[in-house]
Amino acid sequence: MALPGERTPGAGWDAELYDRAAAFVWQHGSDLIDLLAPQPGERVLDLGCGTGHLTAELAARGASVVGLDNDPAMIEQARLSYPALEFVHGDAASFRLAEPFDAVFSNAALHWVTRAAEAAACIAAALRPGGRFVAELGGKGNVQAIASALTAALAEAGYPLAPERFPWYFPSIGEYAALLEAHGLEPVYAALFNRPTRLEGGEAGLRTWLALFAGRFFEVVPDEVHVEVVRLLEERLRPQLFRDGVWFADYRRLRILAVKRANG
Ligand SMILES: C[S@@+](CC[C@H](N)C(=O)[O-])C[C@H]1O[C@@H](n2cnc3c(N)ncnc32)[C@H](O)[C@@H]1O
Repeated sequence: MALPGERTPGAGWDAELYDRAAAFVWQHGSDLIDLLAPQPGERVLDLGCGTGHLTAELAARGASVVGLDNDPAMIEQARLSYPALEFVHGDAASFRLAEPFDAVFSNAALHWVTRAAEAAACIAAALRPGGRFVAELGGKGNVQAIASALTAALAEAGYPLAPERFPWYFPSIGEYAALLEAHGLEPVYAALFNRPTRLEGGEAGLRTWLALFAGRFFEVVPDEVHVEVVRLLEERLRPQLFRDGVWFADYRRLRILAVKRANG
């Protein structure tokens, strides 16, 4: 398990730690595939596919899949785990793929893409008319307790977070639906819901989550301050987020299904 202060190297993802400690991400995403209801032979793009576990589930349901991610370590890990599947390196906000898709699927990735309008344009361009876009991402209010405590602790330590370092885009239903509509994608279903999420690792659960997902907050913070901020966070969040030996992240998720307009 991660130690206090262990961090994701550079701006990239720690694919090995992700596979070891973040199974909850793709396990929660599994029933998103039911919302997509892929038909045998359909071409499906898994956008922000990470280490490829849901890409493989889509393939097991008979879809012809391509996984796309902009992190080289995640793509490499996906190729190692699922050598028969196609994974490509690309950015959700600028990719172009030659053949149109019947569906674009995305789990727990699009809140990392702050260029959300560009991503919506790419998704629309990737779909055939009538094609579906099915996604889950952090929605408005996602990890609010963790993010507020982290922002406050960093400011107190003398390292206030510059707004451009906030790594996430957590839209409301209204905001995201309007964005999709503006790009020719018609939302036909949307839900915003709380999902307190059990973190792996017992006592180390919160610090492991921070190491996996919150590296950006600590990029300019010296190691000793980083360790102290993590300790403070654990102390302050324990009454709210730690129960019976388990940390829970205060996730709030947005699920959406949209269809590309025929004249879009
Ligand atoms: C939490 S992981 C989810 C991975 C996978 N969908 C799953 O359910 O396990 C988020 C993924 O989004 C990817 N990602 C973040 N920003 C991206 C971007 N701009 N373009 C493509 N992928 C991106 C990351 O590299 C990471 O693999």
